[in-house]
Amino acid sequence: MKRILIEQISEKTNQEAFIKGRVINLRSLGKSITFLVIQDYTGTIQTVWDKPVLARTGDIVELTGKVIEDKRAKSGYEIQGLEIKVISTNIEECPIDVCKPEINLQLNTLLDHRTISLRHPKVQAIFKIYDLLLEGYEKVMRQEKFTEIKTPKIIETASEGGANFFKITYFEKEAYLAQSPQLYKQMMTGVFERVFEIGSVFRAEPHFTTRHINEYIGLDAEMAMIDSFRDVSNMLNKVIKGVFDHINAYGEKWLQMYNVETLNVPEEIPHVKLSEIRKIIKERYNYEIPAETDIDPEGERLACRYAKEEFNSEFIFITNYFWKDKPFYTMPSPDNEEETEGFDLLFRGVEIATGSQRIHDYNMLIENMKKKGVKPRGLEFYLETFKFAMAPHGGWGLGSERIVQLILGLSSIKEATLFPRDVKRLNP
Ligand code: 4AD
Repeated sequence: MKRILIEQISEKTNQEAFIKGRVINLRSLGKSITFLVIQDYTGTIQTVWDKPVLARTGDIVELTGKVIEDKRAKSGYEIQGLEIKVISTNIEECPIDVCKPEINLQLNTLLDHRTISLRHPKVQAIFKIYDLLLEGYEKVMRQEKFTEIKTPKIIETASEGGANFFKITYFEKEAYLAQSPQLYKQMMTGVFERVFEIGSVFRAEPHFTTRHINEYIGLDAEMAMIDSFRDVSNMLNKVIKGVFDHINAYGEKWLQMYNVETLNVPEEIPHVKLSEIRKIIKERYNYEIPAETDIDPEGERLACRYAKEEFNSEFIFITNYFWKDKPFYTMPSPDNEEETEGFDLLFRGVEIATGSQRIHDYNMLIENMKKKGVKPRGLEFYLETFKFAMAPHGGWGLGSERIVQLILGLSSIKEATLFPRDVKRLNP
């Protein structure tokens, strides 16, 4: 008999069906009745047996049975088992019980046994939402006519400067793992005008927080022929809205597992200048953002509280970040040299994206690099591009795992990362 997928089981109502999957739950009512819940890649279904069953929880099985409509069942159907065959079985006691409705494990246990904990439907749901995020991003970016590119992750010069890069040995030389696709995506606006990349980003951040990992997937974009950074932030607004609509449309059953209702993105996310939000936070919430930072995590939390109270928005753009804190490629503000055309997008209290208009004029770029003490060595390929007419451009980098963490209200970003890397963790 041909295999039928669990999501199509209604096609076999009152008939015999042949399914394959994993036993994710097993209950016996005395000696006479056994219930097995079977999971395949499309869903789960309960099977009922009135004879002894040799299968155990976790086993891979194939079975035949009669499909019966049952309003009480979650899927609306149940299978009355006829024959069952174990295809593959556990060779030792499973370290994690994936049968419970809630998987209340310590984060380290969850991650140490990642391939097993991922079998839990609620853990799987995180990566179904992640899948929709990626699909939604690609879909919307293509609709907006951005070209998808992939840029090298082993590079000669640290792309973002600073200290949070990994140095590696590359044959006879030293090289770096890309801290972002920044330089490459900017250069590619000179070719395709609009580009996007979904790719690995490496950050040697030595701290333990709930929002940082050392390797993450960035959703980057860069667009040319802009008039100001507002063209970029408005495009980001549109993209986030499109992506969240996509998740709403296809992710309901997984969102529900986390009690998440429809995600709302305003047509126009409010924009507030950094200098202003610092004042507002002081006056309204009596919190002083430390002078040595642009905005700290508490400031971000309060900025979002303000956006919610004032504009009923879970998002806020903070704009005009200070020149001293931004990388060399960021366009300084034309009317205030202490500020830039750089912005962040915050969602539910946390930064999810950074973006800006970039410097496109060669002489201005060299001048800004000098002021920041950035040496041209290793950047010759980047600088050369700017000698040959680049259009005004800008873009953003979005952290994919953070978005999923915030959508589902997960306490750590690592829960939203399939195999996270942190200071201590290099496996699985
Ligand atoms: O703010 P970041 O460092 O900006 C850039 O990489 C720029 N090149 C972007 C641009 O186009 N101007 O990183 C962008 C986003 C952050 O807002 C955050 O969501 C995420 O990437 N991110 C991290 N996510 C997880 N772990 C980390 N260590 C992260 N660092 C940044």
